Amino acid sequence: MYARRLICESPKSKSSYWGAVNVFSLWEVTKKPVYIIITAEELVFYKVPFRSRWANRVEHYSRRKQEHVEISTTMDVEAGINAGWEDIRFLHQCLPEIDHDEIQLSTVFCGRRVERPLVISALTGGHSQAAWINETLGRVAEHFGLIVEVGSQRPMLKLPSLVETYATARRAAPHAFLVANIGAAQLIAQEQSLACTVEQAKELVTAIGADALAIHLNFLQEAVMPEGDCRARGCTEAIGRMAESLSVPVIVKETGAGISKSQALELKARGVAALDIGGAGGTSMALVESHRAAYRKDQRFQRLGQTFSGWGIPTAVSIVEARASSLPLIASGGVRTGLDAAKALALGASLVGIARPLLGRVLSGGYDGLVEYLEVFFEELTVAMFLAGALAISELQGKRLLITGKLKDWLEQLGYDLPRLSRQRT
Ligand SMILES: Cc1cc2nc3c(=O)[nH]c(=O)nc-3n(C[C@H](O)[C@H](O)[C@H](O)COP(=O)(O)O)c2cc1C
Repeated sequence: MYARRLICESPKSKSSYWGAVNVFSLWEVTKKPVYIIITAEELVFYKVPFRSRWANRVEHYSRRKQEHVEISTTMDVEAGINAGWEDIRFLHQCLPEIDHDEIQLSTVFCGRRVERPLVISALTGGHSQAAWINETLGRVAEHFGLIVEVGSQRPMLKLPSLVETYATARRAAPHAFLVANIGAAQLIAQEQSLACTVEQAKELVTAIGADALAIHLNFLQEAVMPEGDCRARGCTEAIGRMAESLSVPVIVKETGAGISKSQALELKARGVAALDIGGAGGTSMALVESHRAAYRKDQRFQRLGQTFSGWGIPTAVSIVEARASSLPLIASGGVRTGLDAAKALALGASLVGIARPLLGRVLSGGYDGLVEYLEVFFEELTVAMFLAGALAISELQGKRLLITGKLKDWLEQLGYDLPRLSRQRT
């Protein structure tokens, strides 16, 4: 199928150009017959008879999403700050009084049972490789009974037919809790784009058969790229409008800089159903942008991204902060092992989320590679629960933790009484 080559031509085009875009967008880009070549990598090159600003933007978003995939799986983009897991210890139970085989990983999130407490965090969409990636992630979610998010559907706002690059996740995972995705920056008018309306957001959800909408906050990333959307005035209100108007739950998701207590409380007041705290300590999207700038030989933005690679609230701190909202919490940002996940859950998260390591496994090992990776991950979580004496996720959430080092410093400066935080647990 990938070797298929389809060539047709716009007969009279003189001032044409070549670019890479998904096949589904061809007709809408041109409204005219075009050359189409599907390469072995399933990239589609098209020749259009004019280069409109609109077509430029579509191509730009698609290319950017593809570059994020490439950079984050081939370069070092781990944040220059730790998520905090190394400063958390369980009190070992030398007499666990439970059987390893009895341990249950299932839990409930936004009223839905999930078989394991993991979210495949938002990664990609809007380019041809994304269709296969989202399909593979969907198959894995269906296999394990996980929640799966698609990447930002922003390209769909310009070109609704790009839906195919996201909807593959739903087709592969008919029973999974599927989450649609759009940025808070897209909810307000930017220099180059109009605000996403409530109607458009509803369409993003229904077009892929999603069970919830994640609104991502990535103002750090937007601020360190030249084309970034940095108008943020009104974003809280816009999120509230979405939460009020959509029939599915709205999850607000940071993407590597964390959510503080006051902002978690504000989001709760606006009607948000859950938070993905997306803390610092995992993938740094600022570093991803820094590498993109280096490719363009843009030293200014290369340096800006590097400078902010350690910015943000570490994931462990953000869990404690966001707990004040008593909303269901997804802990993401630097969750790398099942033991990290156990610590995040014990600290107060309902679920954990992982993004980049899963993408890397899909690209290197496909479906089987990712299944193998996650089997080890869930075994690590189960062993941690066994040794902490927890039969279920709800029991793990009550386990006593010892907090040391930088995490202790952060929490003390934020005014937490650590012995009290610890005494609330068994
Ligand atoms: C290649 C790549 C693309 C991403 N695209 C999105 C996106 O479109 N929407 C979103 O909400 N988060 C996106 N993220 C952020 C992740 O969902 C996640 O919040 C972040 O990578 C931290 O998790 P990690 O440390 O496990 O990678 C992306 C991350 C990566 C690595």
